[in-house]
Amino acid sequence: MASRKLKDGVYSVGVLNPSMRVFDVVMKTEYGTSYNAFLVRGEKTALIETCHRAYREALLENISEVCDPGEISYIVLNHTEPDHTGTLAELLKSCPKAQIVCSRAAAGFIKEITNLPELDIRIVKEGDSLDLGGKRLDFYDAPFLHWPDSMFSYLESDGIVFTCDFLGTHYCEPLMLDYRMVKPELYDQTFKEYYDAIFAPFKQHVRHGLKQLERLSFDMVCCSHGPVLTAGGRLEKAVGLYREWSAKEAEEMLIPVFYVSAYGCTKAAAGSFAKGVQKILPKARVMLLDIIEQDISKQAKLLNSSRAFAVGTPTINRFPPPPILNLLAGIDAINCAGKPFAVFGSYGWSGEAIKLVGSFLESLKCKKQGELKFRFVPSEGELDAAQKLGEEFGLALQQSV
Ligand code: FEO
Repeated sequence: MASRKLKDGVYSVGVLNPSMRVFDVVMKTEYGTSYNAFLVRGEKTALIETCHRAYREALLENISEVCDPGEISYIVLNHTEPDHTGTLAELLKSCPKAQIVCSRAAAGFIKEITNLPELDIRIVKEGDSLDLGGKRLDFYDAPFLHWPDSMFSYLESDGIVFTCDFLGTHYCEPLMLDYRMVKPELYDQTFKEYYDAIFAPFKQHVRHGLKQLERLSFDMVCCSHGPVLTAGGRLEKAVGLYREWSAKEAEEMLIPVFYVSAYGCTKAAAGSFAKGVQKILPKARVMLLDIIEQDISKQAKLLNSSRAFAVGTPTINRFPPPPILNLLAGIDAINCAGKPFAVFGSYGWSGEAIKLVGSFLESLKCKKQGELKFRFVPSEGELDAAQKLGEEFGLALQQSV
């Protein structure tokens, strides 16, 4: 992206990456992304965020359209994930006078990311400011948006908040301003996907971030992926959606029972287990879900928003089959700590999958509330045992309410 003046003394100098198709190994990015960075120029100049290490030259070219990179006095890092800092170590060779400005948590991270232990770092916290001479940046705590290091920078004189990932999305168009988008419907799609992937596990922190924004007067949000948001453009809608998506969910007794079943054996036990839970908790929403017939990300979402859950897994080659692993890969480990689960399944020779799934979930601090395995086709007695496991599971939940 060539540089673009946003307001007097404020420039967008970030880089487009329209060809990215996967972010952080796991997140599909159908419409690419951008690594947004900004220059704020008073008597001194601050660069806000940098970019992925592969794009240093493009970032330097864009900066150079506005000023000599050597003039940069500060590099403000609102968040240090390498898509925003990967180029920092190299970039500093062109900005030798620049002091890094970031949170205490970010300072620790950035030394490890750059492998430059002697970096000149100014640690800032809520209430601190950076006077550029004619412009001033104020800093606001915004942790876990989406790393512990994150913060917001506020340019009160121009009504701009720099939020890094918060309110951003992996979406790429040539002009990167919300009112200049050609395909806003695609932006809307990615905005939701980005929120779900990055921020849904941190709802409490999203609510805090929104509260921080309520304290500020602004008409522009310079996020670090996707278009800059403006009042009257997409800004109000974006904030409203974050408010809606991060609202506390009504306490619902959702209990999904996930299973994979090649010959119907584990499926039969899943049905008996679900019957047992429902018998004890008639008002609970007990859902039987065949993993291979459902969208895996939707199922992970159900698991993450559930009160408790169960997994039925056969053992194939001494391991859980891939659909079970895909489900487990989608668990929000932060918010699922302490969540009760049961695991069961049919096996032919050894049945390792049941133990492996149980151990994995316990390693995430989920709470095992029962386990059952049986060979091949469940007998009447084994189906009764699966129902009894469900009843005990329901009773334990009832007692913990
Ligand atoms: Fe865009 Fe959390 O990095």
